[in-house]
Amino acid sequence: NEDQFKKVISHAKEYGYVFQSSEIYDGLSAVYDYAQNGAELKKNIRDYWWKAMVQMNENIVGIDSAIFMHPTIWKASGHVDAFNDPLIDNKDSKKRYRADVLIEDYCAKIEGKIDKEVAKAEKRFGEAFNKEEFVSTNPRVVGYQEKITEILARMGKSLEAEDLVDVKALIEELEIADPLTGSRNWTEVKQFNLMFGTKLGASAEHAMDLYLRPETAQGIFVNFLNVQKSGRMKIPFGIAQTGKAFRNEIVARQFIFRMREFEQMEMQFFIKPGTQKEWFEYWKETRMKWHLSLGMNADNYRFHDHDKLAHYADAATDIEFKFPFGFKELEGIHSRTDFDLKQHEEFSGKKLQYFDHEDNASYTPYVLETSIGLDRMFLAVFSNSLVEEELENNTTRTVLKLPAVLAPVKAAILPLVKKDGLPEIARQIFEDLKWDFNVDYDEKDAVGRRYRRQDANGTPFCITVDHDTLEDNTVTIRHRDTMEQKRVKIADLKDIIKAEVDV
Ligand code: GAP
Repeated sequence: NEDQFKKVISHAKEYGYVFQSSEIYDGLSAVYDYAQNGAELKKNIRDYWWKAMVQMNENIVGIDSAIFMHPTIWKASGHVDAFNDPLIDNKDSKKRYRADVLIEDYCAKIEGKIDKEVAKAEKRFGEAFNKEEFVSTNPRVVGYQEKITEILARMGKSLEAEDLVDVKALIEELEIADPLTGSRNWTEVKQFNLMFGTKLGASAEHAMDLYLRPETAQGIFVNFLNVQKSGRMKIPFGIAQTGKAFRNEIVARQFIFRMREFEQMEMQFFIKPGTQKEWFEYWKETRMKWHLSLGMNADNYRFHDHDKLAHYADAATDIEFKFPFGFKELEGIHSRTDFDLKQHEEFSGKKLQYFDHEDNASYTPYVLETSIGLDRMFLAVFSNSLVEEELENNTTRTVLKLPAVLAPVKAAILPLVKKDGLPEIARQIFEDLKWDFNVDYDEKDAVGRRYRRQDANGTPFCITVDHDTLEDNTVTIRHRDTMEQKRVKIADLKDIIKAEVDV
């Protein structure tokens, strides 16, 4: 659905949500700036997550650890040795690509073919069409699916292997070409570490090599005992944080889906060894509920359980979301055992153990992790909310149907005309409401155009002051999604808005 995706990107720019970083210098690839509305939306998503995770759970606390950390941490965590992506250079174009992304793209194309077959059949059979049955019995579709499964299985196997020979063979066999030039002249596949390096210290000889953190999780692990002791936390308990992470993604694409500088919202839940299965199920369900609470269609989400596990995990699943370019990972839920804490014990020489008063014994806790990309969540919400609607009078309107709790501006206050004392009353309403909500005042253009502007901006309510207001202190309140207008008392506005935007 490339068209829809293009619309999302241009709408994000036009309405002040997301800009390309350093645009006047022709941009910086895979780095983005959040604009006036984007910063609000991002903050609201972060707050929504923080409230659900930290405020609502007595046994979860939040921290804010530094981006710079001792470099040995990344040896202990495995990032120095194992945080690599397979890279392949094109001899002709001198362009460099992530081999796994090239293969993934190829699979996405086959998925597109499946979608086309489904759409064709749906048209042909109409009401009688049963998608599940069609997908599992149509020989062409079944063939496509088998092909994808085979490709991914072969890729998975060789990504784990040292030599990566099969990845190159696969790219050649599938006749995958350079997406920019069409050339098929590849060199060997190499491993490439994704961490950004930097230096700490004034003089070159004494400078210390550091990394920008590639995940926020390690800041939680190394503070585990500090938080447990100072907060007198009892297992099971969680530590949450949100913050920037950095990865030198080779082919960073798909707008804010895969960035080089991005934000994570992570929570590590420290548990007693042996209880990880229950907690894994608990957090799977709890996180899915959180997503569904935003009221976006349940069909947009699915779990993708991992058969192939990272060295530290004994169970893992992704919550995938239906982005304009297909189902992709939005959040990861990982049962990480005691891998990280044990590694930090070994590399730091310090014990990171918990004394369990009930059992009268010490142990290194197991960890259940939930990890979601804030920017990805932003893209999920934004792309899902952008719709074009046909209206009864044969016109269309663009509406950004953001969940009201996340919308940057909750209400716009509009005087019908710029005279007769209406702007003064509208201004007064604005002054009263701004203490509780982020609100807008707008008096430019005809009121119909102002409504359209606010619809496209995602504002759930428009409040219009007209001549009747002068008589009876009432205004109209217009709902973005239904376009219904009701006459209400000015004094009731706060409660009406609160009922919709508060969680
Ligand atoms: N601590 C575990 C961890 O970092 P991950 O699967 O590598 O796990 C977690 O990342 C989440 O962070 C992903 O599900 C995704 O939402 C987000 N994320 C990862 N890399 C990203 C990137 N380059 N750009 C934007 N978001 C990213």
